[in-house]
Amino acid sequence: MRSPAKLSMVIVMKDELIPKDLAKKYTQKEILEIEKKYLAPAVGHYYEHPVLFVEGKGALLKDSTGKEYIDLFAGICTTITGYNHPKYVATIQWQAERLVYTSSLYSTIPYAVLVKQLAEIAPRGLSHSFIVNSGSEANEAALAMVRKYTENPYIIACQRGYHGRTTLARELSSAGWRTFPEAHPPGVRFTPYGYCYRCPFGKEHPGCDLECAHYLREVIRTQTNKAIAAFIAEPIQGVGGIIQPPAEYFKIVHEIVKEYGGFYISDEVQTGFGRTGKKWWGIQHTGVEPDIITMAKGFGGGIPIAGFISRPEIAVNYTVTDSFATFGGNPLSCAAAVAVIEIIRDENYLEKAAKLGGILKKKMEELKEDHKIVGDVRGQGMMLGVELVRDQKTKEPAIQEMLMIMETCREKGLLIGKGGLDGNVIRLQPPLELTEMQIDEACTILDDAFKKTEKGL
Ligand SMILES: Cc1ncc(COP(=O)(O)O)c(C=O)c1O
Repeated sequence: MRSPAKLSMVIVMKDELIPKDLAKKYTQKEILEIEKKYLAPAVGHYYEHPVLFVEGKGALLKDSTGKEYIDLFAGICTTITGYNHPKYVATIQWQAERLVYTSSLYSTIPYAVLVKQLAEIAPRGLSHSFIVNSGSEANEAALAMVRKYTENPYIIACQRGYHGRTTLARELSSAGWRTFPEAHPPGVRFTPYGYCYRCPFGKEHPGCDLECAHYLREVIRTQTNKAIAAFIAEPIQGVGGIIQPPAEYFKIVHEIVKEYGGFYISDEVQTGFGRTGKKWWGIQHTGVEPDIITMAKGFGGGIPIAGFISRPEIAVNYTVTDSFATFGGNPLSCAAAVAVIEIIRDENYLEKAAKLGGILKKKMEELKEDHKIVGDVRGQGMMLGVELVRDQKTKEPAIQEMLMIMETCREKGLLIGKGGLDGNVIRLQPPLELTEMQIDEACTILDDAFKKTEKGL
């Protein structure tokens, strides 16, 4: 028998225990050289001169030269509780000292605590979770589950949506990522999304009768056997360019999905965990009760974790022989996710996201008044989009200008995201741990960047 004293030993953090190569001070140039030599070019960075970040605190990042940046993109919509929140760091350290990994072949406390908490914050009726490592994997798992349950192959996804990069998730995505030829996997169909700024039917809301939503019936009737396994959609498209349909879009689509026997999957990889303000999930703003929610990104606050939560009657059919993930539900990631949920609850982030998001959106709308390059401002809570155009009438996407604006912002210490089929939408998806002063500073920088870029228009 092992001595209990050994098992309960707590490791004291000592600098000399850290691998020397990690603790060394590198310049940005040195790191870029290593990357060039050893990294597959499938990894690409933002900016002409990519930044090397070494530290973060709240919504601020510090680069290797000591320069600070306000991060309005949270990595990619991920560090929802900000960088290095004390409770988050303490929980990860605490768990790491006890048990980083064992598989879900065994019970662990963090996995059980996490799924219980997820059921508490999920919309009504959703109670059974399955935990994996990435958003793509979560979507694949949810889709496999509904296909098995319905014995139907048809999945309907939305145009300009994004659901990940594994085989099926990539094929369900149409946000401009299909870069090499692949045959469509059988059963995937697309329907229009409610993109009012560029309505696919050339109409204007509210006088349009939501043709984009009703079109789903046409897709199902002409391209399936008049029954579907599921419809999957983001409540606000992220990668596609922060596109938010009117709430009725979701109600109409949900009704049609039910008429044809399908399940409604809300992909909340970006919209989950309070990002849209006041509610835990984006779909809760639409009046639709989903059958399954998939989640990732903010879920772990930066530590990889993803999963789905489902109605029990669907989940019960998805059994131990159907799926497995070596790292899925590992104690370290689950503990981090528990800390994220607690921070969001204890620090009232749902209200904070609504309040600060409202302030940020109002400021963006003011910038729209002053700048002809801003075609549209949209989104909700801390998930906002600013679509840039070369001409307000033709709505020609301002693609090069977007890159210039990003570079100017970087020079002045502001990080923003890029999205949309043409890469002309500024994505503002900051940590919920943001201050009003940071918002003011960020808006001044954006104002300057718009001015500078417009001179060349
Ligand atoms: C809405 C949505 N779903 C799924 C994914 C895939 O997540 P991951 O990159 O963790 O596989 C993403 C990633 O950006 C996403 O935005």
